[in-house]
Amino acid sequence: MDIHSEKILILDFGSQYTQLIARRVREAHVYCELHPHDMGIAAIREFAPKGIILSGGPKSVYEEGAPDLDEDLLELGVPVLGICYGMQVMARHFGGEVVPAGKREYGHAEIELTGKAGPLFDGFFVEDKSPVWMSHGDHIARLPAGFSVVAATANAPVAAIQDPARQLYGVQFHPEVNHTPRGEILLDTFVRKICGCHGHWTPGQIIEDAVARIKGQVGSDQVILGLSGGVDSSVAAALIHRAIGDQLNCVFVDTGLLRLGEGDQVMATFAENMGVKVVRVDADERFLTALAGVADPERKRKIIGNLFIDIFEEAAARLEGARWLAQGTIYPDVIESAGGKTGKAQNIKSHHNVGGLPDYMKLELLEPLRELFKDEVRAIGDELGLPRQMVWRHPFPGPGLGVRILGEVKKEYADILRQADAIYIDELYQSEWYDKISQAFAVFLPVRSVGVMGDGRTYEHVVALRAVETKDFMTAGWSQLPYELLSRISSRIINEVRGVNRVVYDISSKPPSTIEWE
Ligand code: XMP
Repeated sequence: MDIHSEKILILDFGSQYTQLIARRVREAHVYCELHPHDMGIAAIREFAPKGIILSGGPKSVYEEGAPDLDEDLLELGVPVLGICYGMQVMARHFGGEVVPAGKREYGHAEIELTGKAGPLFDGFFVEDKSPVWMSHGDHIARLPAGFSVVAATANAPVAAIQDPARQLYGVQFHPEVNHTPRGEILLDTFVRKICGCHGHWTPGQIIEDAVARIKGQVGSDQVILGLSGGVDSSVAAALIHRAIGDQLNCVFVDTGLLRLGEGDQVMATFAENMGVKVVRVDADERFLTALAGVADPERKRKIIGNLFIDIFEEAAARLEGARWLAQGTIYPDVIESAGGKTGKAQNIKSHHNVGGLPDYMKLELLEPLRELFKDEVRAIGDELGLPRQMVWRHPFPGPGLGVRILGEVKKEYADILRQADAIYIDELYQSEWYDKISQAFAVFLPVRSVGVMGDGRTYEHVVALRAVETKDFMTAGWSQLPYELLSRISSRIINEVRGVNRVVYDISSKPPSTIEWE
């Protein structure tokens, strides 16, 4: 079966929620891709979508330079759902009028059925009402020809419209956000009932498809892959191993800046349990030597990144017949890098997957996770039988503890931090908080403070604890861990880790702080 045979196209008009639309469609087990709003009609035809979703956007449709619609797409005979700006731009095309709303509407609202609920709204209204999330300054004042109004809110008389004969639909609210509780029903109905997709996009099918594609691409060549211990490279390794077995050669670099027991854990999971070929390169001394005397965060990052590539290249050069370099690049990386090139991305993060590939390696890239969101990567990691702890672990930065030891990195500091971090994470697991938060870790502060232990004075270092909750890691709030838990963690760290006599908890949000301290 071709799992890409049924595709939904999402055109991005710049909303901060566009990625969420894609995730909701994937949760309905339908493949979709996100493209810029000005994707040409020829490309759209070639893409052959079963349905098109027009996202929201920050502009007003009547503003100069507002992103426009390629009107031909409305004539393709393919169902279209416009969300917020997407609805307005479609309405305007058919002669509707969009005006500034008397009152901006932002946040929770209740939408009420005022017309006839068509097939898109099956299960969306309960007793003619549905709670929704609104975020708009404009609304439709005059309905376009052929459309009828389905529902209204107190501030938007035209909050949902439809023209079932032409399969065109529009909603003023955001069905893709969690604050619209029945929004996923609506999106599911759109892609499955209106667009007629069957839902082939399941973890099992994704794996089957990826395995066949990897086999086809690679043939009898050798593949190398840098394992970091993180989710993406681990799942990529498991998937490629499923496809080509021993033709996969992993390289795991122990930088000396990893978490407690991480190197052994990676080796145990891959080499011992799964029979994957892994070469472990112990490079802690090289890293520590290169970092000696360097306190500047950016310089530290550069040194670590460059050394990583050097070591990887050396390992690759020793592998005979390697033609492919596999990486755990995932779909958000692809979207954000593409956005960076066209200058359209709202949120750009630097990615550290590649870090610069040496030309002479002449390796081709193998990126089997390129189409997947993080939650899909985790789902297939589960399906491939990777340990839960590895699949669901919090993100860990490429430069590792190097950016969690403030200022100069020393082995003594790394050892202290590793122990403190292990206690912290252990307590989070024990108290069942680990899965409720997005990322937690300890930070080593190279300052000393006075304490008293037993009858003696101490003058030792400080450890800070960080725990955040976030969806996208672009913004984050600090987690309100219970006092008793913090108290237990603090006593354990101070009692069990030599060299620490004070523990503090970080209560800063991002922005204006960042998640990591460096
Ligand atoms: P910040 O500190 O920018 O971090 O708020 C956002 C997320 O990115 C992770 N992070 C990195 N990941 N290489 C990575 O692979 C890096 O250099 C890097 N720096 C930050 C960080 O842990 C958080 O999840």
